[in-house]
Amino acid sequence: MERELDNTNYGLEKIFEGAQDFLPLLGTDYIEFYVGNAKQAAHFYKTAFGFQSLAYRGLETGSKESVSYVVKQGKIKLVLTTALNSQSSIGEHVKKHGDGVKIIALWVEDSKKSYDETIKRGARSYLNPTTEKDEFGKIVKSGIYTYGETVHLFIERKNYSGEFLPGFIKWESRYNPPLVGLKYIDHMVGNVGWGEMNTWVKWYEEVMGFVNFLSFDDKQIHTDYSALMSKVMSNGNGRIKFPLNEPAKGKKRSQIEEYLDFYESPGVQHIAIATDNIIETVKKLKSRGVDFLSAPPLEYYKEIPKRLGSHMKMMKEDISELQELAILVDADEEGYLLQIFTKPVEDRPTLFFEIIQRMGARGFGAGNFKALFESIEREQANRGTL
Ligand code: FE2
Repeated sequence: MERELDNTNYGLEKIFEGAQDFLPLLGTDYIEFYVGNAKQAAHFYKTAFGFQSLAYRGLETGSKESVSYVVKQGKIKLVLTTALNSQSSIGEHVKKHGDGVKIIALWVEDSKKSYDETIKRGARSYLNPTTEKDEFGKIVKSGIYTYGETVHLFIERKNYSGEFLPGFIKWESRYNPPLVGLKYIDHMVGNVGWGEMNTWVKWYEEVMGFVNFLSFDDKQIHTDYSALMSKVMSNGNGRIKFPLNEPAKGKKRSQIEEYLDFYESPGVQHIAIATDNIIETVKKLKSRGVDFLSAPPLEYYKEIPKRLGSHMKMMKEDISELQELAILVDADEEGYLLQIFTKPVEDRPTLFFEIIQRMGARGFGAGNFKALFESIEREQANRGTL
């Protein structure tokens, strides 16, 4: 079947031969956050991250229980949703977890089939297949629970031509800050609880037909203080990648443990967004108030030519500029990648963003884990949560 590519699949077809095609996914449709104040959250993502106003649903459109703002940049759509009364399950979610990702919506050809296939394989239902209509056509949505209280919705929109979904109106705003070059979602990482990694790896394999194509254990990912395990799950065409983290015992509290304590359950840890010019994107984000983790020591940057080896000759970026911006570099056999991580974007130390530029590499920056975690531990020490 021919489809519009949601992102590059890095030529991974061979690796994913083991994946099953009972759940073909066309891409990420949107990510929905449950937040305390959607109006202000939407303003933040526009101002700080350069998202554009797209759609709105609220009291004015007949929505009595909740309000949602949809913002867009490149192929990424974020939905910021808040409750309008104290009875709402949205409010309960925010009370327990703080602001965070509730829904990872996946774009599918056939929502009912996606639901039936995953329920048959053991998924827990969140939403039975439901058709919604307006003057632009109809969509079908259905959903299942994944880790914690997080949900995967299956969105079928082949018979719909509206801006977002039925029930939403176009959001016309006088305030339209410029884009920062964010293109698409590269991967989304979930933190699962102690001892739960293999349960969720198996769940993604059996229920969603994903394959585990990369694994890191606590011997590879550790600092003097903390450790974690990480396994990367991918769907059959490589467009959807969900790395999973599990805390491991260290001398002090790891960042995964800190997340689980503050989110009060497993949940989405970070959203990695691709750009094709990380230097320009990061300069813009910094000028607009986005806080990033601090740079690793000078030694890290001195070792880059050695770590990149033969890829060094294709590297266009200036190492001193990367250092100035605190951008990290990693390489694998295929090429290199540039990445940087924001500080958490809420007061609870939970969800954060990664900005990534792939120059052939298909890994996730394993070579940076140590430098990254040491930087996070400096933040944890500041928070008194290490
Ligand atoms: Fe990542």
